Amino acid sequence: MTIVKEEFKKRVILFEDLVADRTAFIDAKTPGSDKKENYTIIGPGVSESSKRVINLVEAHGFNFGAAAMPYGTKNSLHSHLTAEVFIVAKGTWRFFWGNDGTEGEAILKEGDVFSIPPKIFRAFENIGSDDGFLYCILGEDNPGKVTWAPQVLRTAEGYGLVLLEDGRLIDTTAGEEVPGHAKVVTPISNEELAKVPKISEEVMCKQIFRFQDRVPHEESYLDCRLSGEPKKLRPDRAWNGRGC
Ligand SMILES: [Fe+2]
Repeated sequence: MTIVKEEFKKRVILFEDLVADRTAFIDAKTPGSDKKENYTIIGPGVSESSKRVINLVEAHGFNFGAAAMPYGTKNSLHSHLTAEVFIVAKGTWRFFWGNDGTEGEAILKEGDVFSIPPKIFRAFENIGSDDGFLYCILGEDNPGKVTWAPQVLRTAEGYGLVLLEDGRLIDTTAGEEVPGHAKVVTPISNEELAKVPKISEEVMCKQIFRFQDRVPHEESYLDCRLSGEPKKLRPDRAWNGRGC
């Protein structure tokens, strides 16, 4: 197979190529979450917006996106059917999880990575002193739809956004109408909520890679003894923060 230069070029996605979507999700108008910008970079992701721009559509076996959020902004409690991995690019973030968001929390800083298991309700907020930016990866070519915590759907109702079973987000404040035959997403039942596994901070923290705790591997690859700069990471101090 020959891959021509043009094919390579479309795989290079510059930061300036990213297109922000401020109406990507049902909480887009909920105060406290209304300043989020979401980016769909590789694959369809889970955006509920018909206006999203995908930089690279080709199936990769995973989805790669990002979120930019000013200080104090929160991404509401939700879950996915696949694993979701966050990579903090800028800022300080508090992640919290559980059906009501109180089972545990973790504070992540730049370079930290957090892999959250499927079906666990999770949320995050920018608690740094400036704008924050993080990348996120969702598994599989099609990661399915977001499941929102019941309280998120109820709160969003008051701000004019309606989420349909077919994945469309209707903005009634922009004059859009809910089609007569459409089925509106309803909150998951208490029975379904009771089936969601509970994960303690102690267990969840094993899902976090701390940039400061990185350990060097000097002979990881076949070419590690070839001339040139050695490929090496430096160990650093353990992080001392609240949460896990
Ligand atoms: Fe998510």
